[in-house]
Amino acid sequence: MGLFDEVLKDTESLFLNEVMLDFSYQPKLVRHREEHQKYIASCLLPLLQKRNGKNLLISGPPGVGKTVCCKHVIEELKEYEDEIFIIYVNCWKKDTSYKLALEICSILGYKWIHNKRTDELFNEIKDIVNKKSLVIILDEVDKLQDFQLLYFLVEEIYRKSMLLITNEKDWASELEDRLKSRLILDNLDFEPYTLEQTRDILEERKKYAFVKNVFDESAFNLLVDKTYELKDIRIGLFLLREAGNFAERKALRKITIEHAQIAISQLKDYQKRNILNMEEEEKEIIELVKKNPDKNAQDLLNIYRKEISLRTLQRKLEDLSKSGIILKKEAISAQGAKTFIFSYGTIKRLDEF
Ligand SMILES: Nc1ncnc2c1ncn2[C@@H]1O[C@H](COP(=O)(O)OP(=O)(O)OP(=O)(O)O)[C@@H](O)[C@H]1O
Ligand SMILES: [Mg+2]
Repeated sequence: MGLFDEVLKDTESLFLNEVMLDFSYQPKLVRHREEHQKYIASCLLPLLQKRNGKNLLISGPPGVGKTVCCKHVIEELKEYEDEIFIIYVNCWKKDTSYKLALEICSILGYKWIHNKRTDELFNEIKDIVNKKSLVIILDEVDKLQDFQLLYFLVEEIYRKSMLLITNEKDWASELEDRLKSRLILDNLDFEPYTLEQTRDILEERKKYAFVKNVFDESAFNLLVDKTYELKDIRIGLFLLREAGNFAERKALRKITIEHAQIAISQLKDYQKRNILNMEEEEKEIIELVKKNPDKNAQDLLNIYRKEISLRTLQRKLEDLSKSGIILKKEAISAQGAKTFIFSYGTIKRLDEF
């Protein structure tokens, strides 16, 4: 073996298809959730017979496949799009009835939204949607700031199924009785995956994301164990990618246990750091990034207007992104040059960045 065989050439990568590790990537099959998918489908089934469907509250901790499962079911339902409107919205991104009304109008292709109030938008939506049936997924429903949309859906839409997704199992108990009694929610709880299920899911992603045989068995096993311990597949995907990145940065052809350990230590940093016990300046920088997402260091400096050099700001942004509090992403500037842009978020928001 030559001296340099272990080193990657600059045209080579350990990743075959890194997109497969994106949190938003929709896998072809959502394994180990077959029963959940059947149950969700059974709630929608009456719609195909022009009857009213069931409403479902889907709950469970983060990263256990709630969103991916619902999206998979609606993908299959799209065959019946002639009879059913299918709408997916995330209430973390759009957290008021007004924002959601605009979003729903946009999904339905309704453009005459200007100067219309929420109730007026709802009226338009009603006229469109009541011509067919409706499946609406309200993901992260606990982030909703008001319940006007829910009242509208239960009272004005005739044939529908509402799939409400949340981490909080008892979310509905807080609702007004008037709303609760109209919603009539069935419950579907998602338990964390077992160790073997976790392994199987990550194995599948690894197979498509990485070049064959680059992952040492022991490194992979360590990441599976960690993912199982934290009960969140999203963390597993993050760890696989980070371990791959570390090995690749060193231009190595193998991802070893050392890289897996570094990936895990990143995670520890991420979990340990707490915004509350940070320096004032760091907190300000986080606020700055929060209010001005997707900007590079120079743009942020222009907005910040404080006595700080570009270099120091860059270093602080770098530190904060290493500990996972803000997210860093490569982008192309208006001048066509490579740059890094920053955004506030946790691991969960990595793909929404
Ligand atoms: N059974 C599975 N097969 C393949 N990938 C999965 C499976 N379950 C979860 N994942 C992946 O793990 C990540 C997290 O899953 P998902 O987004 O569905 O979590 P969630 O339960 O909705 O979490 P949260 O409550 O934080 O929104 C996604 O990238 C998803 O593709
Ligand atoms: Mg989700």
